[in-house]
Amino acid sequence: MNPTVARRTVLAAGVAGAGAVALAACSSKKSGSGSATGQAAGQTSGQTVAKLADITVGRCVSAKLADGSPAIVARPSDSTAACFSAICTHMGCTVNPAGAELHCPCHGSIYDALTGAVKQGPAPKPLPKIAVHVANGDVVTT
Ligand code: FES
Repeated sequence: MNPTVARRTVLAAGVAGAGAVALAACSSKKSGSGSATGQAAGQTSGQTVAKLADITVGRCVSAKLADGSPAIVARPSDSTAACFSAICTHMGCTVNPAGAELHCPCHGSIYDALTGAVKQGPAPKPLPKIAVHVANGDVVTT
């Protein structure tokens, strides 16, 4: 075997494996379509949505609000958190964490996982923000 090709093959496999690990560390239990409300419904003040320590800095996790609607909890810095509805603003599918991005499985929209901003359409607008703060290591709705 050509050593250059073999090295490329090994590197490609390593990159793919690392991507799979990152995706697993920042993935939801479920994926696929969700409700078509496009709203951050179910926002209840004082609800713990995640533990800050469970989120890698610069990444996010999937969570559920009090009414069961899907949300994303991100950790932009060591001591801060951000939360968004996980309902795609295009047609209401549930977006999934993918490293520092959120991917919609329905039509390919991509959002910034830390801000909810649209990075690639067809989503017409950012994911709705859900106000949260960090209290005793918990990410709590405000
Ligand atoms: S519902 Fe998300 S891209 Fe269409």
